[in-house]
Amino acid sequence: MRLSGVLVCLFLLWVEGSWGDTPANCTYEELLGTWVFQVSKGGHDKTINCSAEATGQSTVTVTLEKLSVATDELGNIGFFTLIYNQGFEVVLNGYKWFAFFKYSEDGPKVTSYCDQTLPGWVHDVLGHNWACFVGKRVKPVPPKIDYKPVFSSRLLQKPYRHNLDFIDSINSVQKSWKAAPYPEHEMYTLKELHYRAGGPASRIPVRVRSMPVKADLAKMAAALPEHWDWRNVDGVNYVSPVRNQASCGSCYSFASMGMLEARVRILTNNTETPILSPQQVVSCSEYSQGCDGGFPYLIGKYVQDFGVVDESCFPYVAKDSPCGVPQNCGRMYTAEYNYVGGFYGGCSEMAMMLELVKNGPMGVAFEVYPDFMHYKEGIYYHTGLEDPFNPFELTNHAVLLVGYGRCHMTGQKYWIVKNSWSTSWGEDGYFRIRRGSDECAIESIAVAANPIPKL
Ligand SMILES: *[C@@H]1O[C@H](CO)[C@@H](O)[C@H](O)[C@H]1NC(C)=O
Ligand SMILES: *[C@@H]1O[C@H](CO)[C@@H](O)[C@H](O)[C@H]1NC(C)=O
Ligand SMILES: *[C@@H]1O[C@H](CO)[C@@H](O)[C@H](O)[C@H]1NC(C)=O
Repeated sequence: MRLSGVLVCLFLLWVEGSWGDTPANCTYEELLGTWVFQVSKGGHDKTINCSAEATGQSTVTVTLEKLSVATDELGNIGFFTLIYNQGFEVVLNGYKWFAFFKYSEDGPKVTSYCDQTLPGWVHDVLGHNWACFVGKRVKPVPPKIDYKPVFSSRLLQKPYRHNLDFIDSINSVQKSWKAAPYPEHEMYTLKELHYRAGGPASRIPVRVRSMPVKADLAKMAAALPEHWDWRNVDGVNYVSPVRNQASCGSCYSFASMGMLEARVRILTNNTETPILSPQQVVSCSEYSQGCDGGFPYLIGKYVQDFGVVDESCFPYVAKDSPCGVPQNCGRMYTAEYNYVGGFYGGCSEMAMMLELVKNGPMGVAFEVYPDFMHYKEGIYYHTGLEDPFNPFELTNHAVLLVGYGRCHMTGQKYWIVKNSWSTSWGEDGYFRIRRGSDECAIESIAVAANPIPKL
């Protein structure tokens, strides 16, 4: 199907939800406690296949305590973080452990076993000595049963029809941002739009409560400039060009590559300007789910463990394809990756501003409501208006934070965010969104990763 740039951007919106990923849905509270990790024989390299390894060669017992402290039986103290509602990573005694929570699917019924994991990966912090493990929390908790919402088939077959009243009402209830009609939408049925959005099951889990901002953080943030934009720091641009993810739910990969690209430019004063391969992540990463979605935190981990090649080596094809990265291409790695604020749940406006000015653009995610699809320009906030004729589900979208500012006239604070729906969308491929009030959860899960530039 041939699609104009604008259409691609817009219909991408519906592809977005797709970072629904594994259907597991577990909370921070469920992660806390004592876990026994059954570990396979060590000494492998990163080519290990954890679906095929027998675990149980040895066991490691780890206790995970508030807020982010991990301890083992020997009293070693480390760190852990929940990864969204999907899994966790523990860094302890020189080793990194990562696994997704266990789940099962029976039609629309999804059961999450939040006290167990799927086979996960463990290796030392230098990326050597790989093994596999499965985790089990020793105090048993009953499995949680969720039902995926299902839409009536009659509704699903209905073609999408433009609702100009909806757009008019967005523009009449507020002056902060402008909505515009995108007639190209009418090529799709609601089913297609939902399907591309990751389906009706693609939902945001319960929010982690945000932490009070520490006094020292507030003091450092108070010393930051009023305005910051990595596209123009004393006349110099450090942000790589806006790209187009097309009809694959790869926003998480584009946001992560965009972050690494910008940070290499910053670290090398623009002498290195790589364009990295989001397709490699889509095709090769077992820490994410290809065109169905993934999490920027785990892409920081993927690039630390496996490295990422240039776009020219493994070009973007916008679909799930075999992992055929040529052997002879150089790979770039990450030195570190972390949730801004230290762990999942530790994020805040000030922590994001400090990270941004100090280290560069970072991956953020926010909730996409139907009004956002009509964003044309201005400072977005969710109007609360619904389009009664096109009942879409809330989805979640990963993007790249590049700056912040404040309006002279209104004093309204905003973030400047790079999208991956081509330059014909929004403000030349970017949008601005309210800052300081966790608008659409944009201040809840920022992720930073530091690349090691090739010398
Ligand atoms: C890993 O092992 C599983 C189970 O034996 C197998 O189905 C799968 O194809 C293997 N994956 C790779 C990449 O070899
Ligand atoms: C996850 O579980 C919580 C309750 O624990 C529920 O409110 C939420 O809707 C669930 N999210 C998904 C994506 O199923
Ligand atoms: C960075 O690059 C600019 C433009 O090429 C140059 O003027 C400046 O001296 C460089 N800064 C450093 C620290 O090398």
